[in-house]
Amino acid sequence: MSFKAPRGTKDIYGEDIFIWQKVEGILREICERFCVSEIRTPVFEQTELFQRGVGETSDIVTKEMYTLEKKGSESVTLKPEGTAGAARAFVENSMYADPQPTKMYYITPAFRYERPQAGRQRQFHQFGVEIFGSCDAACDAEAISIAYEALNKIGVKNIELKINSLGGNECRKRYNEVLKDFIKNNISDLCGDCRERFEKNPLRVLDCKNEKCGNILENAPSVLDCLGEECKAHFEALKTNLDNMGIPYTVDPKIVRGLDYYTKTVFEFVSNEIGSQGTVCGGGRYDNLIGECGGPQTGAVGFAMGLERIMMLVKSQKLIEFIGKNIDIYIGSIGEKGFLKAQSIGYELRKSGICAEYDTLKRSVKAQLKYANKINAKYSVVIGENEVLNDSINLKNMKESSQEEIKLSDIKEELLKRI
Ligand code: HAM
Repeated sequence: MSFKAPRGTKDIYGEDIFIWQKVEGILREICERFCVSEIRTPVFEQTELFQRGVGETSDIVTKEMYTLEKKGSESVTLKPEGTAGAARAFVENSMYADPQPTKMYYITPAFRYERPQAGRQRQFHQFGVEIFGSCDAACDAEAISIAYEALNKIGVKNIELKINSLGGNECRKRYNEVLKDFIKNNISDLCGDCRERFEKNPLRVLDCKNEKCGNILENAPSVLDCLGEECKAHFEALKTNLDNMGIPYTVDPKIVRGLDYYTKTVFEFVSNEIGSQGTVCGGGRYDNLIGECGGPQTGAVGFAMGLERIMMLVKSQKLIEFIGKNIDIYIGSIGEKGFLKAQSIGYELRKSGICAEYDTLKRSVKAQLKYANKINAKYSVVIGENEVLNDSINLKNMKESSQEEIKLSDIKEELLKRI
């Protein structure tokens, strides 16, 4: 019997995990500087949280959720994104009673039953930030500044920030009518998904990737023309704030996002170097979600970055150089006595912060030294019965192919002097 990883999932190891850990390190460091604390929420949540939060008309809820039904217990769903769980945690743990804003970040796997392709998986990973407790555009700009700094610090090039505003409930109602009016004459030319969206949530028609639909919607009216005074001012304030921080953007009224919870600001960071799945980061404001989750009316804004897509760019733009294992010393051994000494010394060295490796496969000395070379050990020794008896050993510098005799009992001090 042989097994395969499920379709749309990937093992991350070797050179890849090296890059992942570097990127995650950068993200965590940035969050620290921007005063954002980590939150870890469960990988699964009550199904209803996503239905109400992400929205009944979104593709995620209608087609893509991994829902688990267990006899006698409530329906739960593997998280398709991080925002709903963060909002639930904010309410359930009464974080709204703390001094605001509450700023949290997560690095989490997420699950969507989608057709896998480059940059689109069924299990993928998101780095997300959520800021709760303010309706001010300054928070939208702050969220964007975190994503912008993250991309810059990782070093990703040729990324464009696009911003838009979907307005509040009233603006949305107004725009839906205007858009429906525009679409109705061409409705029969739209794809099946769009015809359905036309009925349930016309705005989402703008999000269709179908070329024919795109052509029809090319000259669709702009949502920005339907914003009320307050939403217009909010969007202007966002632009002023971004200009103030020197963050470049373009306004794109076609950005509507695929999730239902957004109000006012929406934004995306897009690359055209990784194929059709070019959105590396998406986010926006969602002022109704905390209320939906049973909490007090609370302003909220955030984003999530798709880490697989970031890694694609890191690799294609060669941003992080892979450095293999950093091994200070390889301790070879001959015979059981030699092995036991290698093991006890190896353990001692490791405890004192030295990266040491010794043979546990009981290979020949020749094979052990070949391995030491392969793993790029800086130094090596070979311990046999004589070395133990005489308390003397040859410390070999693997790079320079030189060696010197030292006392075996002084190996730690001798190494610390050299590395
Ligand atoms: P989203 O646009 O659905 O938004 O996902 C955010 C990012 O996750 C996308 O831009 C993309 O990079 C990545 N992503 C999504 N689906 C996949 C997939 N199947 N495979 C690989 N990467 C994927 C959200 O999830 C919102 N929760 C963002 C947010 C946070 N809004 C406010 N706060």
